[in-house]
Amino acid sequence: MLGLLLLQVLASCLWLKHSKVVTSFASPQFFYNNATPSNALLAQNPAWICQHYKNQYNFATLYDRKMHTPLYSACIYQPGPGSRSKSWFVEPQLIDKNSLKQMERESVLTEKYKFTLDQIKESQAVLADYKVMKGLDRGHLSPSSHQDSRESKTATFTLTNIVPQDSSLNTGQWNNYECKTMVQKTKDCKSTYVITGAVPGNTYVSGNRVNRPSHIWSAACCLGEDTQPKDAWGAIAENDKNMVELVSLGVLEKNLTDLYGKTVTLFNNACPRYQSFYLF
Ligand SMILES: *[C@@H]1O[C@H](CO)[C@@H](O)[C@H](O)[C@H]1NC(C)=O
Repeated sequence: MLGLLLLQVLASCLWLKHSKVVTSFASPQFFYNNATPSNALLAQNPAWICQHYKNQYNFATLYDRKMHTPLYSACIYQPGPGSRSKSWFVEPQLIDKNSLKQMERESVLTEKYKFTLDQIKESQAVLADYKVMKGLDRGHLSPSSHQDSRESKTATFTLTNIVPQDSSLNTGQWNNYECKTMVQKTKDCKSTYVITGAVPGNTYVSGNRVNRPSHIWSAACCLGEDTQPKDAWGAIAENDKNMVELVSLGVLEKNLTDLYGKTVTLFNNACPRYQSFYLF
């Protein structure tokens, strides 16, 4: 009897824990097997954003309202041609008490919806923050090149998907990883899940408002024809030089575990940890 009771308590805890993770990201379909990264990557004041634009969910972001930067963004890799968005957006869903679900331009929020810029700035970075930075670009976590429609490409231009990224890295080796390495590595993948993140750094830019990440990383889990994981890999870069290390998923998780001081798991266990190591 006692055993049964214990079992029930245990089961309900597991269930609660499980349902919490699921409700944290309202649409966990961007994570392989709905498995989100371990809580070691949790933010100080987290917002789980399922990025919504033009009636479509495009990717998921764990954002930190305190550091004003994302921790990571996750998407399913679907590259396609197309031009870059000329506009940048912010997320009204991070501002208290309103029902706007999709990203908007700052000017629309202030003119049409009568928010003040200060109200927007409380929970997130705004364009003015990025305009005063020197040697740092608006670096995408989930890049526009990994999306295949005009709308989903535009959706990546929300500032909640952006971190201050070393300009030489953003236009150099990181761009090379996103556009060349990913194309080569995914040649034989039926679908590929990607999580791209930034490790919080010790310094802030734009008058102490926006964290400058110490490292940028990306991980991929590739599924074969049978929709089972068959390959996985990672990339990591220090955010002050134009150099990217290509590593196995296992090494990337170890790197992040060292940097966070807590065990980091990025993907479901089925994604191979050391497979790609010798291919680089
Ligand atoms: C990641 O780990 C590898 C293997 O231990 C190490 O050589 C490399 O310097 C680490 N990279 C970073 C950025 O921590």
